[in-house]
This record gives sequence, C-alpha cells and structure tokens, in this order.
Amino acid sequence: MANDFLPIKGYDHIEFYVGNAKQAAHFYDKTFGFRPIAKRGLETGSRDRASYVMEQGKVRFVLTSAYGPDNEIARHCALHGDGVKAMALTVASVESALRETKARGATVLKPATAQEDEHGTLVTGEIKYAGDTVFRFVERENYRGTFAPGYIPIERRGQTDEVGMAVIDHIVTNVHIGEMDYWVKWFEEVMGFNNLLSFTDDDISTEYSALMSKVMENGTGKCKFPINEPAEGKKKSQIDEYLDYYQGPGVQHIAMATGNIYDTVTELRSRDVDFLRVPDTYYKMLRDRVGDVDEDWDRLQELGILVDKDDDGYLLQIFTTPVQDRPTLFYEVIERHGSRGFGIGNFKALFVSIEREQALRGNL
Ligand code: FE2
Repeated sequence: MANDFLPIKGYDHIEFYVGNAKQAAHFYDKTFGFRPIAKRGLETGSRDRASYVMEQGKVRFVLTSAYGPDNEIARHCALHGDGVKAMALTVASVESALRETKARGATVLKPATAQEDEHGTLVTGEIKYAGDTVFRFVERENYRGTFAPGYIPIERRGQTDEVGMAVIDHIVTNVHIGEMDYWVKWFEEVMGFNNLLSFTDDDISTEYSALMSKVMENGTGKCKFPINEPAEGKKKSQIDEYLDYYQGPGVQHIAMATGNIYDTVTELRSRDVDFLRVPDTYYKMLRDRVGDVDEDWDRLQELGILVDKDDDGYLLQIFTTPVQDRPTLFYEVIERHGSRGFGIGNFKALFVSIEREQALRGNL
C-alpha cells in the first residue's frame, strides 16, 4: 500500500513478564516445543531482569522475570500474573514508526533507542496499548546477532522436538465493556489498520454469556489483532472472568499456525497440554455445517479439533486451557485452508465448553 504510513514487516516477538522465566522457558521448551536460543541475566550484566528467547518456526517468545520486587516487571506480575507485556512488530524504521503513530495520537513510552554490539545495531521503541500492554517497534536491518545486544546464545544439552508451530496467526486482546470501539478507532487512526471483520453479541452468545469482537488488520494483512469486549449476558462472561483475574485489559490468546494440525495436536496432547473439550454433539452437527470439507472426521473428533468454513475456504482450530493458574492467557493452534476467518461458526460450541470450565472454577 503506497500510503501505508506504518509499513510492518511482521511479528518480531512477544515478550511475557512472568514470575519465574527459567521455569517458564522449560515449559515452553518441553511442552510447546520452543527452542531456547538466547538469554540475558546476571552473567551478562543484566542486573534487574533475566530473559530467555524461545523460537519455533517464525514464532519468537521472550520470557522475562525480575530479580527484585521494586521494578515494573515485578509489579506487572503481582498485578496481572504471568502475561504478555509487549507485542513487537518488525519495521524498517523505528524513528518513522514512532513519529507517524505519535502524530496520530499514540502515547510514546520509549523513544527510539539504539543498542550496539559486535553484530551491529538494533533499534527499538514502544507505544502504549490497552491496559499495561505495549506495542514495540523493532528495527533489525543492521543487526546480525542471535536476538539483540545484551543477549548470549544458549548452548542446548537435550533436544525437544518442535511441534510444528510455523508463524503467529493473530493475537487477541480483551477490553472492558464499552472500550472495544475506542481501540478499533485507535487501530484505524494511530496504526492505519482496517476493520476486517465484526461480530456482534447476536453472533457470539450462549444461554449465559455474550461477547462482541472486531478484527483489526494491517495494510499488508500480515498482522491481525481481534479485540473482544463482554456483552450483557445472564451470568459473567469469559471476558469478564479474564478482566477480573488479569485486573484489566490484556492479551487473551495467541493463535499460531501449523501446516499439520493433526501432528501438532497429537504431539501436544502427548506432552500433557490441555485443550478445551467440545461436546460430542459438536461433531454430530459438524457434517451438516461443513460437510464437503475433505478431512479425517474420526481423527478430528478424537483430537477435539474444530472446523469452520466460509466463502474463501475452511480452517481447523483448537484452543488450550489457560497456561497459568489465573484463567487468563491461552493458545490457539490453527491450520488455514483458504479461510481468512476466525472460527465464528465454532464460537457457540466453544463457549459452552468454556463455560463448563468456568463453572468448575466457580466463576459462572
Ligand atoms: Fe483466535
């Protein structure tokens, strides 16, 4: 797009603030199949924080925890529990990204900052997003190191096989009731994104709870950020539950694309990753809904994989349960066959399942 004032090359990484980055790194390594590639900490001169960079396909997570109580990482963890702090996007120029978004209303939290080592120069900068979450811009054109200056490569001893996660597909934010349209406008005006899809509470409601969702997409279609807000329901919605336990808006789930969801889910299940269980009635109704999709129906049901179809094609998807004690962040695994949707046809079946888990937690 010639007039794209914020040309984004793609997702650079996602940084999580966690209580214990060393143990979180072990979890993402041994269960989700991420490879630890670099770290920083006391031994590299980082006095206030330890970080582990985990990689699989083009997905890169940075897990960070604090060495003491009096810093923003510790405060973030005390308030939110483990969660996403920064969504980092690769750009050609951080200077330009900050200038253009600031001119359109962004709050700059960190100005363009260059870090150097023998591998070159890396530039980063940050703007405020919903709650305590930030967007980080990363310029790595002139950097050839493993991840960033200040990090050292990790020598691996054992080897855990990857599970086939190839790329981040989308990242979803939950916001308070009445705030969704504010952030939709923010994405449009400040980031130059488009509203790709909208779902009302008529689309997404069950007997108990309802939510609304709008999907924001950048000019190249590489980055997609759906935003959810709760709608009035009979009982507390899953979005309300998230907002209570995260103490405000934040990232609800990260969807990662795989080329073979059967293999990915089989492997994740063998490593004790828990997925939402859908009722068997879902699969009874499925063939009527998406009958001509050429997939292995028995295996889909056995693994609990969901199917949705639209005019462009279909998609296969599955959702984990929350990956920390607080019912906040979870993951989605998705395999797309033409569809650019998000599984709207599955939402209802899924929410029945989520509500069953919510009831077990005494939060419905
Ligand atoms: Fe999703």
